[in-house]
Amino acid sequence: MSGNAPWRVLLGRSHECGVLDHVVADARAGRSRVLVLRGAPGVGKSALVEYLTRSAPGFQVLRVVGVESEMELAFAGLHQLCMPLLGHIERLPGPQRDSLAIAFGLRDGSAPDRFLVGLAVLSLLAETAEDRPLLCVVDDAQWLDQVSAQTLAFVARRLLAERVALVLAARPPAFGAGDDPWAALPETEVPGLRDDDARALLDSVVPGRLDERVRERIVAETRGNPLALLELTRGLTTADLAGGFGRPDSRPLTSQIEHSFVRRIESLPSGAQRLLLAAAAEPVGDVPLLRRAAERLGIDADAEGTAEEAGLIEFGTRVRFRHPLVRSAAYRAAPPAERRTVHRALAEATAPGFDSDRRAW
Ligand SMILES: Nc1ncnc2c1ncn2[C@@H]1O[C@H](COP(=O)(O)OP(=O)(O)OP(=O)(O)O)[C@@H](O)[C@H]1O
Ligand SMILES: [Mg+2]
Repeated sequence: MSGNAPWRVLLGRSHECGVLDHVVADARAGRSRVLVLRGAPGVGKSALVEYLTRSAPGFQVLRVVGVESEMELAFAGLHQLCMPLLGHIERLPGPQRDSLAIAFGLRDGSAPDRFLVGLAVLSLLAETAEDRPLLCVVDDAQWLDQVSAQTLAFVARRLLAERVALVLAARPPAFGAGDDPWAALPETEVPGLRDDDARALLDSVVPGRLDERVRERIVAETRGNPLALLELTRGLTTADLAGGFGRPDSRPLTSQIEHSFVRRIESLPSGAQRLLLAAAAEPVGDVPLLRRAAERLGIDADAEGTAEEAGLIEFGTRVRFRHPLVRSAAYRAAPPAERRTVHRALAEATAPGFDSDRRAW
C-alpha cells in the first residue's frame, strides 16, 4: 500500500525526490515553497508524498486527503488542514477568527467572508511556523471541495518568507473541467517510470523469467505507470502474460486498472463485497461506524479478514483502501439498489447528532 506500507525505495524517482528535498530545504531556511505534483492515476504521486513526509525531520506535518464523496461539503478540506491548529485560533485578529469559526461550524453566523477565511488560514500557518517549520501536504487534491481548493490557492499565492512548504498532489484536471484553482502555481509533472525502471518493477512482481518481447510490450502499454505494472500483471504467471496481457484493449489505462479491481472484488464472497461497498460509501474511514453498519447489513464477521487478505483494504485506526481506484471500483461495481441499501445502513449506524456532516445520507 502506498500509504502505510513498510518504507521502501522508490524506483526511478531521483529527480522528483530531489525537487521535493529542495522544497523542504527552502522552507526550512525561511523561503516558503508551494508545489503541485501532477500526474495520472497510479503514476506514483502518493508514493512521493509519502517520501516527502518522511524527508522533513523537525517539521510539523499537516496532512489533508481529498475525498471524492466530500467534494460537496464546503470547507471540509480546510477543516482537515486546520484542525490540529485550532488551539491557536484565539490569537487571530477578531474578524479572521470569527470567519474561520463560522466556516468550521464552531459558532453561528451568516456565511463567512471568503477573503477573511483565507487570511485566517494564512495567519494560522504563519504563526505555527514561527515555532517550527511547517509542511502541509494535500493528497488527492482533485477531490477537495471547491472553497477549500480556492482558499488554499489564495494562501499559496501569499506565502512569502515563512517557514512553510505546501505541496499538493493532484490528477490532471478532467478535460473541460472548470477553472483549475492551482493553474498559476509552480508545478512538477510526475511522469511514468522510464523503461529500465518499469522493467525492474515488473521483474520484481512477476514470478519466473519473462519473455523479452512480452516484457517490452507490457512496459510500452502501461507507459511506465507503476500501478498498472503492479495491478494488471497481478497473479499472472509468465505463461498467462505471454498469452493474455496486451490483448488489444482500447480503454484508457485507468479504466483497465479499475476493471481489474472490479474483477478482484467480484471474485470475493458477497459479505466482503458488501463490506467494501460500505467502506467506499463512507467518506472518513470510521471503523466503528462501518462495523455498526456491517452488522445491520448482516455482513458476517469474516468479511473484514477476507477483504484484507485480498489486499484491497486495511482496517486500522481508519479504513484505508489499497488505492483510490479500489474505492471507486467497489462503488461502481455495485448495482444502485445495493448502494441505496448500504447508504441507508450507514445513515442508521450514525448516532443522531453524532456528526451533522453525515446527515446528508
Ligand atoms: N517509483 C515507484 N517505484 C515502485 N513502486 C511505485 C513507485 N511509485 C508508485 N509505486 C507504487 O505504485 C502504486 C500506485 O502509486 P500511487 O498510489 O502513489 O499513485 P498515485 O499517483 O497517487 O495515484 P492516484 O492518482 O490514483 O492517487 C502504489 O502501490 C505504489 O506503491
Ligand atoms: Mg494517490
